Amino acid sequence: MATHKILLLPGDGIGPEVAAEAKKVLKLFEEAGYGSFETETDLVGGAAIDAHGKPVTDAAVALAKDADAVLFGAVGGPKWDKVAYEIRPEAGLLRLRKDLGLFANLRPAICYGALAEASSLKRDLVEDLDILIVRELTGGVYFGEPKEIVTLESGEKRAVDTQIYTTGEIDRIARVAFDLARTRRNKVSSAEKRNVMKSGVLWNQVVTAIHAKDYADVELEHVLADNCAMQLVRKPKQYDVIVCDNLFGDILSDVAAMLTGSLGMLPSASLGAPDAAGRRASLYEPVHGSAPDIAGQGLANPLAMIGSVAMALRYSLGLGEAADKLEAAIGSVLASGARTRDIAPAGANAIGTGEMGDAVVAALKPLLRA
Ligand code: NAD
Ligand code: IPM
Ligand code: MN
Repeated sequence: MATHKILLLPGDGIGPEVAAEAKKVLKLFEEAGYGSFETETDLVGGAAIDAHGKPVTDAAVALAKDADAVLFGAVGGPKWDKVAYEIRPEAGLLRLRKDLGLFANLRPAICYGALAEASSLKRDLVEDLDILIVRELTGGVYFGEPKEIVTLESGEKRAVDTQIYTTGEIDRIARVAFDLARTRRNKVSSAEKRNVMKSGVLWNQVVTAIHAKDYADVELEHVLADNCAMQLVRKPKQYDVIVCDNLFGDILSDVAAMLTGSLGMLPSASLGAPDAAGRRASLYEPVHGSAPDIAGQGLANPLAMIGSVAMALRYSLGLGEAADKLEAAIGSVLASGARTRDIAPAGANAIGTGEMGDAVVAALKPLLRA
């Protein structure tokens, strides 16, 4: 039986609450004979700061590199607002992305028919929406140097963040987007701001060039990132795959999340480049954060986390069929009317995090081979 090495990094706030539901799902797959899921758990974010004085330890990074897949909950919260910038909770996640080389962040936004009413847009605009944001994750303004606040002679302070992209970084993320588009509706929308940013000019040139050279069969359009944000709420179904830089991808994916009903619905996969043996580092996490406003109350929607497990099954564990079944189970739970508070109509009854996880497990069980 195959052994799947999983590193679970629950993190802070609702992170551990939704990670517990992911564990229930893994346990069911193991019982149903989909392999042995060897799960280790470690600290990240504020929890690691409290225990070790840093948001991720070298040992945890080593475990992450060694794992077949990392499942990550969420990090951050008001408790750590005052820690030094370099060791804030979010820095743990950024280090994992950088050290594991996770340059390709896939953020699918799918609006299940049963959830169309939960979207902030009208039903016909979002029903059956299926778009994929391909976000560059290890470059851009997140990592560019200098990144600092300096005090000028006048006493005034000046803050600097630096947006940097090389042709190689743009090339590899664009190829991921074109390759995925070929498995979907064959259209890529490349979002940048070439009208104000040199990195946008280069982004546009590189995407145009590799399209002409290797992907002429895929429809390509260029869209300014601000217009893309507007189009996402005007007519989201015009999109198939959107490819963009690190910062625009962060913002556009939160916009896309609301089209599906809730930020609590959006999973993600962060992938590195495959090595010679075809193995690549990977981390799977919900797009949402630690949600301090609802943490500790059992109110969080675990479906983004559980959907991230489905992506891990598909992209890292060679269990595409299991992933399809897990996504089908999520769909049937929603169709049955089960709702956590974030996706429930105002005033309607809602279930908690654990009950939603249990509902998915119950719906999945009959779909699995004995
Ligand atoms: P957030 O995503 O934590 O929450 C935004 C809003 O969405 C809140 O009202 C929250 O209750 C709601 N929400 C989020 N996930 C939900 C879920 N699963 N179910 C129901 N409702 C949900 O964003 P924020 O409040 O801006 O950030 C809080 C902290 O999380 C910050 O420290 C931030 O840096 C961090 N953060 C971490 C990650 C991550 O770990 N990947 C991602 C985003 C934000
Ligand atoms: C996300 C988050 C992170 C980001 C933070 C927590 C560093 O918002 O994954 O969307 O900005 O990438
Ligand atoms: Mn974000």
